[in-house]
Amino acid sequence: MRVLIEKDYTEMSKKAALMVAGQVLLQPATVLGLATGSTTLGLYQELIGMYRRGEVDFANVTTFNLDEYYSLGPDHPQSYHYFMYENLFNHINVKAERIHLPSGTAADIKAACAAYERKITEAGGIDLQVLGVGVNGHIGFNEPNPSLPVYTDLVDLTEETIQVNSRFFRSVEEVPRQAVTMGIGTILKARRIILLANGRHKAEAIRKTVSGMVTSACPSSFLQTHPDVTIILDQEAAALLG
Ligand code: F6R
Repeated sequence: MRVLIEKDYTEMSKKAALMVAGQVLLQPATVLGLATGSTTLGLYQELIGMYRRGEVDFANVTTFNLDEYYSLGPDHPQSYHYFMYENLFNHINVKAERIHLPSGTAADIKAACAAYERKITEAGGIDLQVLGVGVNGHIGFNEPNPSLPVYTDLVDLTEETIQVNSRFFRSVEEVPRQAVTMGIGTILKARRIILLANGRHKAEAIRKTVSGMVTSACPSSFLQTHPDVTIILDQEAAALLG
């Protein structure tokens, strides 16, 4: 694992954008795995800026998002579909047919999960996966649990995640209790992974991610088993690293 510690959120986002853009420059038909959330907003703003300045071209890029709330349709303002179009896809030249997000509303959700997993394989697998991390160490919505899904699946959210994510909803009751997420195996199959984290509230999760035992009590710790992971932090998120 490589760990890069940047001065602040802006520098973390710029470093991550350089890596994503570098990947696309080297391999224009790259398959990107993408995350939503506050952490990745700065990265997406940087990528939009680079696209507008003509520094990177997404015309041949394929994307697969990590997760989606179960039962939220693409038009729901808190759905991850909505987030991605608002904050990235509407502002760059990625082709609509190359954008993939798990469905939160498919009639047969299990079949839709299996189909999503197949699509990733058919696209040749993920070249570069972007991750954030939950305060409880979740990646995607792989929550701390005795067992973790290997492939894309429907999972229950923990009470902690429901509380943390309620900041985006009018009330905690509105937060969905389940989500569709790429499994831990889907994530670990990506050829390269970058994980971003900022803020003191992520410091403990980061400590457990980079050192100590691999445990399903902290799903991000499984990244230690991957050969090409770069962790990009601001100083606060790095506060508990020795
Ligand atoms: C979202 C995702 C989650 C977030 C994590 C951190 O697609 O996969 O694992 O990365 O919950 O969220 P923020 O960035 O809002 O702190």
